[in-house]
Amino acid sequence: MKDIIKKLVEAWGPSGFEHHVRALIREEVTGLVDEIRTDAVGNLICRMGSGGPKVMVAAHMDEIGLMLTYQDDQGYFRFNPLGGVFPETLTGHRVLFENGVSGVLHREGPSRRSDAPGLNEFYIDASDGRGGSAGVEVGDACAFFRPYEERGNRIIAKSMDDRIGCAVAVEAIRRLHKDKKGVANEVHFVFTVQEEVGLRGAATSAFGVAPDLGIAVDITVSGDTPRPSTRLDVKLGRGTAIKMQDVGLIVPPAVRKLMIDTAEANKIPYQRELLAAGSTDAAAISLAGSGAPAGCISIPTRFVHTTSETVDMVDVQASVDLLVALLKKPVDLQ
Ligand code: CO
Ligand code: ZN
Repeated sequence: MKDIIKKLVEAWGPSGFEHHVRALIREEVTGLVDEIRTDAVGNLICRMGSGGPKVMVAAHMDEIGLMLTYQDDQGYFRFNPLGGVFPETLTGHRVLFENGVSGVLHREGPSRRSDAPGLNEFYIDASDGRGGSAGVEVGDACAFFRPYEERGNRIIAKSMDDRIGCAVAVEAIRRLHKDKKGVANEVHFVFTVQEEVGLRGAATSAFGVAPDLGIAVDITVSGDTPRPSTRLDVKLGRGTAIKMQDVGLIVPPAVRKLMIDTAEANKIPYQRELLAAGSTDAAAISLAGSGAPAGCISIPTRFVHTTSETVDMVDVQASVDLLVALLKKPVDLQ
């Protein structure tokens, strides 16, 4: 499965510009699902099976990025964030524009300072050294860039959030296709757009699909780094994380029970996940139309929203196992 993870994390796709990721996923799942379509806002919707309870599985294709807002007399660009961009992660990092041009991020003023930076103090140098800006202009979007790396069971890359969720969904499709019995539900795998800027693609696609159950597959913050928030109990390598609650969703008891019972029946390692900040597509699904019960399979991740998001393959495999096990049996929320 590492092949698809590498392809997905290295693809370029800041919020609102998911077309490369969408093309890549379409190619991967063609022939494995019963129907593929792209909706009006750019979500890729892949249906498997028909009749039976309707389940929507959502993984977002977009990654955090920046959009150029202004170019000063010296040629430096200012920007707006696309999603949750943390100022302290920016100095010296590089961004990539769709046309392949790279830019360097830096903070204005002297370089050695102890005060916390504000996002509006940063600029991008994307000059060509000949008085031009190498073909980028105000309104262009860029994404952060670092290559994919493996270290034992760990994978380190940019945009694990949420290409790892996309990879889990693609792998689940592969496995369900291989298994002759396939799915016992009508499953709509939705690869969503613009999650990082407000769960936008999930809101429209959930309205269209009108599922009986929504399952988001997304990353969650692990609590196994020095001085973690005491509220985070999730650790890398301990299994998939089943969401209990975050700021946008209280997972209904029946959904929580279905996920935990399924994990236990299949001996899939799992942890209970709670999040004090942030939310996922599951929150938008739960409120779309007249609402739907929703939950989330989370992949524990270190260094979230940096260019070095780190996951453990044990957790990734457990997440695939749980998703496949949930979809194989007709969903019953009693
Ligand atoms: Co995110
Ligand atoms: Zn995410």
